[in-house]
Parts: sequence; C-alpha cells; structure tokens
Amino acid sequence: MLSALVGFTNRVGAGNFMVDIHSHILPEVDDGARSMDEALEMCRQSAADGITTIVATPHAHDHVHETHTPKFLQAKVDELNARLQGQPKVELGCELRFTHEVVRHICVNHSAPTLAGGSYALVEFPHAVVPSGSERALFELMSQQIRPIIAHPERNMMLMNQPERFYELVEAGVLGQADTGSFTGQFGAKVQKAAHLMLENGLLHFVASDCHNTRNRLPGMSAAVAVIAEMVGAEYAEAMSTTNPQAVVSGLPIPTYPVATLPQKRKKWLFF
Ligand SMILES: [Fe+2]
Repeated sequence: MLSALVGFTNRVGAGNFMVDIHSHILPEVDDGARSMDEALEMCRQSAADGITTIVATPHAHDHVHETHTPKFLQAKVDELNARLQGQPKVELGCELRFTHEVVRHICVNHSAPTLAGGSYALVEFPHAVVPSGSERALFELMSQQIRPIIAHPERNMMLMNQPERFYELVEAGVLGQADTGSFTGQFGAKVQKAAHLMLENGLLHFVASDCHNTRNRLPGMSAAVAVIAEMVGAEYAEAMSTTNPQAVVSGLPIPTYPVATLPQKRKKWLFF
C-alpha cells in the first residue's frame, strides 16, 4: 500500500488505488444500475480505473425512490462481492436526503446505513436549498458520533450562490464530498466554478464518482483527480481520492483536513 501511495505523488490517478464513497451501483433500487449486468459492468469499470473499494450509496428517504431495508441492500452487496471477487470490494452505505429526521433514520430506526458501517454518513441537501435549522440536525448527528459528509455541495443552488454558508458548516465539523463530474465540467460551468471555489478554500475532503450507469453518469475518478491535482497539487488530490475515503471505509479519523477559508466572491475592480 505504501508503494502505491508513494507512486501516486508522481502519477495521479494513473493506476494507483482510489476509494469511491458515493455510487449508485446496486441494481434496481433507485435511479442507478438497471440490472445486475450493468452493476457488474460499473464495478469492473471502477476497478479498471484504479478503484479498490466502492461504497454503494442508494438514495434513502428522498421521497422519490423507495427506501429499501439495509438487509435487502446488503444482500445485493453480497451478491456483487461474490461475483467480483474483491475487484473492487463493495461496501454498503446510502445517500440520505437531509431532513430534520436524519438522526432518527441513522441512529434510531437504522433505516439509513452509514458508509461501510462506520461513523460517517453521506447526506444530501435538497437541490435548491439548505433547509433552515440544518446546523442543529447535523450537530445532533455529530453528538451521536456520526460525522456527516455532505454530498456534492457544489451542485446545491443555494451553496453555489452563497459558498460562505458551506464554509460555516465545515467550520462546525461537517465534511464535503464533490462529484467527479463537477470538475470535468459535466454539470456545467456554474457548478464547475463552485467546485473550484470550494476546493481552493479547503471546503472539500473527498471526491467521488456518484456514478449512476454506463451511459452518461459513469464510474471512475482518475480524470477528475488529475484536474484536482493540477489545481491544488497531488497531495490534496490523493487525500480526497485515496487516504481520506480509505479512512472512512476503515472506520478511522480522516488524516487530511485542508485549512478552510471563507470564500470571497471575486470582484472586478476598476481603477481610473
Ligand atoms: Fe448520488
């Protein structure tokens, strides 16, 4: 493992191991893989890209897709693992839609599995807003020893326009996971700009594929990791794609916290 990490410094994303903590690879449970064949193909593409562990994170409690029991989901994970023989290893988690009920879903009803059964939960805000009182619910989660990782904050319309809101959440202990497609431009220029701003201000701790299929929301992370390395250096890129997500699936504290700074809106100054 050490040699892979050392090699990573020189060849970012080029065959070195990565860990993907956000994917919709489980078949027929949400808007992700539509069949076991597609799920297997997504996993194989992930392995070919250098991903050694992938966490399946089907949507949970989003009022769009059915929320399946962890037992039902685990059976699908077990089937994938039996077929893939560890390349990559599949773990279970979920992408929990934020409501003020997050603590109940995770800690009381156990209807929303944490990432790989550990002490981190992937939480998604609604697309347009950050609901008022979010801080309190997320703090309650942290008081239960569960660390919230906010899925793709760069794609949330409110946070895009007010990135300082996300800075406040990060300062309160929340972590940030950006999607690969946000760096490669898949979601448009505005999302890309928000991703860059959050990255430059140390507000992102992970990058993950958020892959849904083999057509247009693809597995793999290396292309985005190369973009990140170009922007902020190989060390930070490695932390976001390898060491931090590996710590999440190993149930350990993440080793790298970038220094968070308050994002400043860029102003054009005119001098006369
Ligand atoms: Fe997702």
